[in-house]
Amino acid sequence: MILKAVLMAPTSKGAHSWQFVVVEDTHIIRQLAVCKKHGADFLDGCTLAVVVLGDTNISDAWIEDASIASIYMQLQAEDLGVGSCWCQVRNRLTEDGYESEQYVRNLLDIPPQFGVLSIIGFGHKDQERKPFDEANLLWEKVHIGRFKRT
Ligand SMILES: Cc1cc2nc3c(=O)[nH]c(=O)nc-3n(C[C@H](O)[C@H](O)[C@H](O)COP(=O)(O)O)c2cc1C
Repeated sequence: MILKAVLMAPTSKGAHSWQFVVVEDTHIIRQLAVCKKHGADFLDGCTLAVVVLGDTNISDAWIEDASIASIYMQLQAEDLGVGSCWCQVRNRLTEDGYESEQYVRNLLDIPPQFGVLSIIGFGHKDQERKPFDEANLLWEKVHIGRFKRT
């Protein structure tokens, strides 16, 4: 159902610039968990990781397409009661200072024209989050009519 949902995600000019690598092999997931210095370790222990790619030859909006696709999967997962988290790959570096995107391309045999935007990890939730407290909404980020400088 998560993969079905992602294939319904909208794309700029209907170009479907994304592609996805679905990884269930825990050994490979463990290697994805070290694709960058900080913030990828949660992947170790996920039952499923989906690597979200964008074909840079197909669309100049591949980042937007891949971002929306990532969130579509997270929303579908939430609807199913499955936990998920976004691991940012684009613009990140490994512990050794190597480009995270290239590390993931090498690991999964991904052709060079594909940008690696994110890895969405899925699994059983460790804990249930508290519902969002509406009293903490950042209304100052919203400008009515025109931008209000502070
Ligand atoms: C573009 C983007 C990149 C993110 N990258 C990471 C990441 O690399 N590692 C991580 O643990 N969480 C990552 N997250 C999750 C955010 O840290 C998380 O959404 C934020 O802390 C707020 O948590 P909440 O949405 O559960 O309130 C990312 C989220 C977004 C939208």
